Amino acid sequence: MGRCPECGSWNSFEESVGKASGQKGRERADSFPTPLSSIQTKETLRLDSGTEEMNRVLGGGIMKGSVTLLAGEPGIGKSTLMLQLVAGVQSGGRTLYISGEESPAQIRLRADRLGIQSSRIEVYSETELSALLRVCENVKPVVVVLDSIQTVYSEDIGSVPGTVNQIKLCAQELIDWAKSRAAALFLVGHVTKEGYIAGPKVVEHMVDTVLYFDSGSAEIRILHCAKNRFGSVDEIGIFEMGERGLQQVDNPASVFLSHRVGEQPPGVAVAPVYEGSRILLVEIQSLAVPAKGGISRVFSERIDTARVSRMAAVLEKHLKVRFSDQDIYVNVGGGIRISEVGVDLPLCLSLYSARINQPIPPLTAIVGEISLAGEVHPVGYLDRRLKAVQEMGFSRLISPPPKEKKLQLPDFCFPVSSLAEAARSGFQP
Ligand code: TYD
Ligand code: MG
Repeated sequence: MGRCPECGSWNSFEESVGKASGQKGRERADSFPTPLSSIQTKETLRLDSGTEEMNRVLGGGIMKGSVTLLAGEPGIGKSTLMLQLVAGVQSGGRTLYISGEESPAQIRLRADRLGIQSSRIEVYSETELSALLRVCENVKPVVVVLDSIQTVYSEDIGSVPGTVNQIKLCAQELIDWAKSRAAALFLVGHVTKEGYIAGPKVVEHMVDTVLYFDSGSAEIRILHCAKNRFGSVDEIGIFEMGERGLQQVDNPASVFLSHRVGEQPPGVAVAPVYEGSRILLVEIQSLAVPAKGGISRVFSERIDTARVSRMAAVLEKHLKVRFSDQDIYVNVGGGIRISEVGVDLPLCLSLYSARINQPIPPLTAIVGEISLAGEVHPVGYLDRRLKAVQEMGFSRLISPPPKEKKLQLPDFCFPVSSLAEAARSGFQP
C-alpha cells in the first residue's frame, strides 16, 4: 500500500515476512518428540542455598533458571532472608542483590550486622526496569534477588511503581531474562493483611515457586511453599530471628511446644504431626462456649474449619457431648498450620477436654485419624512419631493400632481403636 489508511502518510509501510498459516510445523525436520528415557538430567541443575531449611523448602536447593516469589508481611524478615541467601549460596558465579527499598549503605549496614562477608555480594539500588535489566546483563549473576517487585517500574507504562500492570510487566521481563540466562531469580513481594491492591498475588501464576514467610510465636519464622514446580509443597522451613539475622532452629521438633510444667489446662492436647518430611510436636488448644444467638460457629485458622466441624459432629454422635449449641475456637500453638490427618484424634480429645472442662494429664501425646463412625485409623510413620515423642520426654502416646499387627509397640504406647476408648485412655493419669 502506498498510503497509510490510518495516518495518511505516504510510503510508510515496511515489508515483514511472516509464516504462512497452514505451513506451520510441516517443513522442519526436527519436529520429533524425544523418548523420555533418553533425556539427560543433571543434578548440577540445583545450587546449595547455604541453609538446609531453605534447600528443604525449595525441594533440594535452588533450581538454576527458576523464578521464586517470596511473599510476606512488611518487617517479617524477607530482606534479611534474601541477603543471607545471596551470601550463602554455594556456586562459583556472581550473586546480585537489587534493592528498590534500601540504599547500598543501608544494605552494607545490615550485612555487617549479619556478619556477612560483603565482598561476596554485589548490590545495586535501582527501581527502573531497563536499568536493572542492564545491570543483570552486565553481571550475569547465577542468583539475583529483586527486593521488592512492588518498587520496580517500567517507563514504557508510566512511572508509578506498584500498579497491577507495572508488577505484571516488570515481573514478566525479569522472568524472561532469568530464563534466557539460566539465572535463579528471587522476587520479594509485600503482602499486608488489609487492603492490598496490587499484591504479589498477581505474579503467582507466572513464577515457578511461591514461598510465604510467616511469623510463628515470638521470634520463630516459618517459610512455607504455596506452589513449587520443582518439588513438594509440604516442606516447611523453620528459622529464628535473632541479633545476627535468621538462624536455623536446632531442635525443630519441639519449637512449637509451650513446655509447661505440671498440669495443663483443659482443651490442650499435644500431637506429633508429620509436616513435610519431619515430625513436629504441636499443641492444639480448643475452647467451647455457649453459642451466642443459638447458632454454633467454628473459629479456626490453623486447622481447616471443616475438619473441626466434622470432629465436633463425631464427638457429639459417639461420645454424647453437645457441640451443636457451642461456639468453637481452635488454635495451634506457635502459629503453624496443620493439615495432616493424624491431627484428628488429638483435635477430638482437645475439644472433648475443653467441653467437659477436664485436662488431659501431662506428658501425654496423641495421634490418629478418625472416621465418621468414630473409629481410630492408623497413621503413617508411627515409629518415627513414637521416637520423637519419646525423645521429648513424654511418658505416653495415645495412638491408633499399628498398621501391621505384628509390630511390637513399646510400653508407653497406648493403642486405641475407637474414639470412646481414646477418651477413656486419654484422661487416665
Ligand atoms: P527485614 O528483613 O527488613 O523485613 P522485611 O524485608 O520483610 O520487611 O527485617 C525486619 C525486622 O527484622 C526488623 O524488625 C529488625 C529485625 N532484625 C533482627 O531482629 N535481627 C537482625 O539481624 C536483622 C537484620 C533484622
Ligand atoms: Mg525488606
